This record gives sequence, C-alpha cells and structure tokens, in this order.
Amino acid sequence: MSLKDQFGKDILLTGWGHSKFGKLTDQTLETLIVQVAGEAIKNSGVDPKDIDEIYLGQFNSGMQPLGFTSSLALQLSADLANVPATRTENACASGSAAFQQGVKAVLAGTARNVLVIGAEKMTDAGADVVGAALLGASYEMAGKASSTGFTGLFAEVAKHYGKRYGSSLAGPGYEAGLGDVLGSIAAKNHRNGMDNPYAQMHRDFGEDFCRTISEKNPMVAEPLRRTDCSPVSDGAAAVVLSTSATGGATAPVRLAGFGHANDFFPAEKRDPTEFAATRASWERALGMAGVGLEGLDFAEVHDCFTIAELIMYEAMGLTPRGEGSRALKEGWVFKDGKLPVNVSGGLKAKGHPVGATGVSQHVIAAMQLSGTAGDMQLPNARRGAVQNMGGVGIANYVSVLEAV
Ligand code: COA
Repeated sequence: MSLKDQFGKDILLTGWGHSKFGKLTDQTLETLIVQVAGEAIKNSGVDPKDIDEIYLGQFNSGMQPLGFTSSLALQLSADLANVPATRTENACASGSAAFQQGVKAVLAGTARNVLVIGAEKMTDAGADVVGAALLGASYEMAGKASSTGFTGLFAEVAKHYGKRYGSSLAGPGYEAGLGDVLGSIAAKNHRNGMDNPYAQMHRDFGEDFCRTISEKNPMVAEPLRRTDCSPVSDGAAAVVLSTSATGGATAPVRLAGFGHANDFFPAEKRDPTEFAATRASWERALGMAGVGLEGLDFAEVHDCFTIAELIMYEAMGLTPRGEGSRALKEGWVFKDGKLPVNVSGGLKAKGHPVGATGVSQHVIAAMQLSGTAGDMQLPNARRGAVQNMGGVGIANYVSVLEAV
C-alpha cells in the first residue's frame, strides 16, 4: 500500500525555497513570505497563474501586530490575484498543518498546484512578549506569568523522564546521566548545523560545553541549559505541491505517506514522557508509506528542546521507552549512523521560527532527496521522514518523502 494506491494520484514537491534563519533585522514577515514563495514557484517551473491555492503556516499568537496574514503571499505577483489563501495555526506545527492541508487540497482534486508557506518573525517582539505568546500553546499556562516560559514546560517533561528512567542513564559516556545525554544531542545538532547555510547558529560547541553549566551556558529551567533550547528566530520556507512533474529546476520529490494526530490538551490527561499522539502520527505516516524505520535514510525531527529529541527516538520506535539514549550510545542518529537525525542541525542549531519550522523540515528533506543539500548531503538518501510538533506533544505531524 502506498499513498498513490490509497488516493489514486501522486503528490510531488516540485519546487521549494528557504530563507536564512536567525535574527533578520532587514526582513519583515511580508518580505520573508514573498522571498520564499518566489523561490518555490520559480524553482517548480509552475506559472503563478497555475497556483490554485495557498496555505500559510504561522503561529503569531501576539508576536506580530498583523493578525491576518493569508494574503501576504499575493504580493509576489499580480497573477496570484483571487487565489484562495488560508492561514493555518497549530502552534509550532503550523507549518506542517499548512503542508498537510495543501496535500489534502491536491488529493481532493480541488487544486492542481498548491503553494505552501511557513513563516514567523519572532525577534521584533521583546522576550516577554515572545514568552507569553509561546505560552499560549499551553492549556495550563496560557495567559499566566512565568519566568521560564516554554522551556519550563519541557523542563517538567525532562524531570519526569529523569525520575522514571534517570538511574539507568548514568554510566560510561554518560556519567552525569540525563544531563550528559541531553548535552550529547545538543552537541550533535550544533555540529550538524555547521554544514547548513540556512542555520541561525554556526557554532560547534562540542560535548563538554553542552554538558556543562557555565556563564556562557546557564541553566534556563532545570535541567535544561541554554544549549538544550532552540533559539528565538525569524525565517520562512515554501514548497509547491503538484500531482505531476512541472519541469522545475530540481528533480521532484514524492510524498510517500503522512500522518497527523492530536493529543488531549490538559497535562493531566497525558503521560509526559510518552508523546503518545506523536507515536500515532509516526505509525500513520509509516503505515501509509508501507515502510518501517529501516526503510528510512534520515529523519528531521522536532528538537525544540533536547529532551524532545530524546523522547522522539522512542516515539518513532527506534528504541523502547526509556532507552532513547541507546540511539546516541550506539551512534545510530549521528551523520554516519544507521538513521541520521537532524542532519540540518535541527531546530536547535538551524533555528525555530515556529510557523516556518514544519515547512523548513520538508524543504531540507526535499534537498536531501534531490541531491541538492550541499554540505549537508547524505550519500544515497532515497527516503526520509520529517516530524513536527505543536505544544508539548499535542499537535503531531509526520511525512515520509522519497526520491522519484
Ligand atoms: N542555544 C545556544 N546558544 C544560544 C541560544 C540557544 N538556544 N540562544 C541564545 N544563544 C547564545 C547567543 O548566540 C548569545 O551568544 P553570545 O553571547 O556569544 O553572542 C548568548 O547565547 C546570549 O543570547 P541571548 O539572546 O541574550 O540569550 P537568552 O538567554 O536571552 O535566550 C534562551 C536564550 C534559551 C532563553 C532563548 O533562546 C529561548 O527562550 N529559547 C526557547 C524558545 C522557545 O521556547 N521556543 C518554542 C519552543 S516549543
């Protein structure tokens, strides 16, 4: 069974664009959207007149005063007049929400070519405004004051994880247990980010720095240090979805399967160490694609905090629960391992402009699968997955992509 068997048509990523991520003082939300939309349409070879629908993923939640942004992409070309455009919001998974809505429009036959954009401009607002906006993605903390922001919520996840599994984590290579494991994930992703020209952070901090609390690497919310957190970022990415090749500059990439699962919002209804709906989204996407993890050559996953990547190894089924650290110890998730994870540097080093992230992950995967990933390129990358998450395991999306 494949996506085509199930729906009778292919979904192809025929063109894409990606801005630099970081503190982009010379760019506005509008210029970012127009830039990546232009790149994606040009690279796909599709005439703007043939774009039938636009989906824009953006969280916003108060970070930008303009709260109605669906039409901004039309600024690109007079030929986009009257194209239906909709903004999708699903917290930090708003980008993947846009992607999957675009997929469904093509599958439904209501659009032949869909432009999907993810964008966020976070750094115009002060840290207090950004912190409050992000906490809008928490059932318990929305509208409440917090000195640790969203980091505090994932710190609670890490504390639960440490309490339940911590005693088995200490040992050779991980003397300090969970803190060292999380430091290894940060160091891996920072090292990978060195090869990504779009990444916000080009700093190979190394394991010792990431594992150690210091003036330059303070505790943000125990046990998460600064290097355990994704940064605050601006950026955008875009992709054109089509049913057949459009004569673009780059070989198209096929969507092999997709999955989406939401969990209950109140924390009391979830096991914080499980990410149960994340697991369901992996099972749905892999099931539709008809492959297991052994069929993947890489994965780009949502490491908003290092503890999220650790639990992801378990939610995707790479290891049993509580044993995610094995994926690091055995070297599986490093660039030369059996399943390289976050070769782009992940959210950790690439940056996390929240609404842009899901689309960025699809673009990075498409680069890998079309052999255009430059210094990030993996040898023989034929099939990969991307996973994007809104809130603490609440809105979960996985896509499986493959070379054509
Ligand atoms: N990882 C590593 N280094 C970081 C960093 C991060 N996430 N964020 C900032 N830095 C570095 C900066 O480059 C700067 O380095 P320099 O002094 O050598 O120039 C230094 O730390 C200070 O930068 P600053 O922006 O003042 O840091 P900060 O302490 O204000 O912010 C965090 C750091 C981690 C608190 C902030 O990035 C944050 O809140 N991240 C989480 C965002 C979030 O919740 N996103 C949603 C996830 S679901």
